[in-house]
Amino acid sequence: MSSRLFSTFKIGHLELENRIVIAPMCQYSAVEGSMTDWHKMHLGSLALSGASLLIIEATGVVPEGRISHGCVGLYSDENEAAISRSLKFIRGISPIKVGIQLGHAGRKASACRPWDGQGAQSREQGGWQTVAPSAIALAPGWPSPDALDRAGMDAIRNAFVDSVRRAARIGLDLIEFHSTHGYLISEFLSPLANKRTDEYGGSLENRMRYPLEVFAAMRAAWPAQQPLGAKITGSDFADGGITPEEAVIYVRALKAAGCDYVTVSGGGTVLDAKVPLGPGYQVPFAEKVKRETGITTGAVGLISDPHQAEKILVDGKADFIALARAMLFNPRWGCHAAVALGTEVRYAPQYARAQPKVWPPGANLGSLK
Ligand SMILES: Cc1cc2nc3c(=O)[nH]c(=O)nc-3n(C[C@H](O)[C@H](O)[C@H](O)COP(=O)(O)O)c2cc1C
Repeated sequence: MSSRLFSTFKIGHLELENRIVIAPMCQYSAVEGSMTDWHKMHLGSLALSGASLLIIEATGVVPEGRISHGCVGLYSDENEAAISRSLKFIRGISPIKVGIQLGHAGRKASACRPWDGQGAQSREQGGWQTVAPSAIALAPGWPSPDALDRAGMDAIRNAFVDSVRRAARIGLDLIEFHSTHGYLISEFLSPLANKRTDEYGGSLENRMRYPLEVFAAMRAAWPAQQPLGAKITGSDFADGGITPEEAVIYVRALKAAGCDYVTVSGGGTVLDAKVPLGPGYQVPFAEKVKRETGITTGAVGLISDPHQAEKILVDGKADFIALARAMLFNPRWGCHAAVALGTEVRYAPQYARAQPKVWPPGANLGSLK
């Protein structure tokens, strides 16, 4: 049986074996921004999932741009060497393509690791001063960020470029510009976090200006034949926030600046957002962005069932499916999806005997379908 999910496709010039992408997932397990053995285990396990592309977690372009002190960075030689080691490890076990999400956490930086508590870290716990477009705290109890001035904005833009150069040196296949979930770039885009009165605040054109400046600088530093995409906000799910219509305008501008794909996510800018959680809840935003911009589009958000993923693609609502939680829950998700959709996926030779088609006759595969 032919399956759309398991059909080949391209992001820019990058050829991919199927349309299953592993969404970036913070592991809060780095030391001074450098990946550890945990990342080898985590990424290595996901590399055997059957997905065609694995995107490394939100990676801070400066130490203060990390979400927590356990988040990965790409701002030092040590960080670069650690990612390089993990990549070498992955490439030794799987042909999966590997990208990285580069970002800055803005006013949501300096947070506790989830298992250490909720909210921001105090100074006594090692927290640091955050920055944002405007000096507005995320929510009561969160510290007020410093509003960025021109020099601060330039420094962060340059840091994005430095990280892009490091990613190119490491040999990563793709870069994703983190432009959602209420972190710095989406703080500039959202009227809920951006109250600036200069040319970077107010109209959508002004709010897009800094994100597009950073994107253009990254594009110029990343080889033209290698894909640079963005994870964007389809909706802030809050009154007065980013709307799907604004998302379309932003994506058109990104596309004109050389963006190869977008994954359409949302939320995270304010903590009282009303997110209509349910299967595929963000797919309508992906569909709209794809239809109105023609850019290669990924759908993400509570997509867990192979038939659900297949239908989103067959219905033309997205070009690929990005999965986070379902992949963590079942790091052989792609292998199971291939069985469910009656098709095949590549296995590591060491695991070839795991393929249900070579199990002995009479084996009970019912629960796998
Ligand atoms: C453990 C975990 C870590 C995450 N870290 C990131 C991240 O680093 N960058 C990002 O854009 N989204 C991150 N997300 C969000 C996911 O990439 C995804 O957009 C979201 O979970 C919805 O997809 P899902 O329903 O398949 O999990 C994370 C999600 C989880 C569960």
